[in-house]
Amino acid sequence: MAAQYFDPDPAVASRLGTVELTLPDARVELTVDRGVFSAGRVDPGTLALLRAAPDPPAAGNLLDLGCGYGPIACTLARRAPGATVWALDVNRRARQLATANAAALGLTNLRVLDPAEVDPGVRFAGLWSNPPIRIGKEALHNMLATWTGRLAPGACAWLVVQRHLGADSLAAWLTASGWPVRRVASKQGYRVLQVGPAR
Ligand SMILES: C[S@@+](CC[C@H](N)C(=O)[O-])C[C@H]1O[C@@H](n2cnc3c(N)ncnc32)[C@H](O)[C@@H]1O
Repeated sequence: MAAQYFDPDPAVASRLGTVELTLPDARVELTVDRGVFSAGRVDPGTLALLRAAPDPPAAGNLLDLGCGYGPIACTLARRAPGATVWALDVNRRARQLATANAAALGLTNLRVLDPAEVDPGVRFAGLWSNPPIRIGKEALHNMLATWTGRLAPGACAWLVVQRHLGADSLAAWLTASGWPVRRVASKQGYRVLQVGPAR
């Protein structure tokens, strides 16, 4: 099977590079590598999410589900220095990059982990994700059901999904699963969705 950005251990040889993450509140350089998602540039969906989502809660556990090399996790950690950011990814190379990027930016309020390492009793004050649509619908639904189920009362998830990769059907599935879903932005083919808070 062809190599994928969600392989636990990418087989493709490493070739480090850098990308610039430019947001209204900061501009930083991040290290990227082959075998991780969007190594050539910060994904436009990720940018749309980080521009459209409101500031994260100042404290508590914040979840970046599928952190890749860490653009979302590092932004959350910088925007909420009093919170703990849980940056989760199944891809070991992505976790190594996210760890290195956080350290290079002097961010100490992150925990970069394999999702299986997280105590199921941990509750999150918010969830941010550019989710791995390409893992397939069933796996994606299972992953989102698991982690939205670990949101604290009153907390929301903020997701970005490309329209042509099924943003509207994902929103419909979340609604059918009992979550209020609101489209907060729609830009260049990407939808940013607010999921929750639970009724
Ligand atoms: C679309 S990429 C987004 C990466 C990064 N957040 C960004 O914005 O560049 C989705 C990420 O989810 C990861 N992933 C795939 N399956 C996962 C799972 N079951 N749990 C957590 N992360 C997963 C992939 O390895 C990939 O890094």
